[in-house]
Amino acid sequence: GAKRVKTFKIYRWDPDQGGNPTIDSYEIDLDACGPMVLDALIKIKNEVDSTPTFRRSCREGVCGSCSMNIDGTNTLACTKFIAEIKGDAKIYPLPHMAVIKDLVPDLTTIFAQYQSIEPWLKTETLPPERERLQTPADRAKLDGLWECILCFSCSTACPSYWWNGDRYLGPAVLLQA
Ligand code: FES
Repeated sequence: GAKRVKTFKIYRWDPDQGGNPTIDSYEIDLDACGPMVLDALIKIKNEVDSTPTFRRSCREGVCGSCSMNIDGTNTLACTKFIAEIKGDAKIYPLPHMAVIKDLVPDLTTIFAQYQSIEPWLKTETLPPERERLQTPADRAKLDGLWECILCFSCSTACPSYWWNGDRYLGPAVLLQA
């Protein structure tokens, strides 16, 4: 009886099964589903097939866990409206990363790169007894530099990172640097 049915085509690969990746199709009644792609993934996992694997946590675009390639673009599943996708929704892991399973990329190298540039503020003086007071003007100097949530959608969309990811740190890590 569903009137608004959407097909979600999801990349599947299981290291325990081996073999080539496959695409599984799931039909979801949009009238019984939340508006975001992550809502559909969770609905599939809860009600249709418990086996697809993906990362998620905050469900509001803050943690960066749910980044994946949706409809050809790297983005966050929790902030991507299903209504923005014309036709079938094609969902793949972030490109040019090794896949651990299904939609979960291996972030070991990129987090090692992130660690390598020590992306934290360091003082040149001894720690004070109390907190450091900061003027609004000094705080404003950080705007545009700290909002990155380390979803790595940008780095994994960057051709230079694809070809030289072992040596080039990529945009997300360079922003932190
Ligand atoms: Fe946290 Fe999507 S679940 S950014």
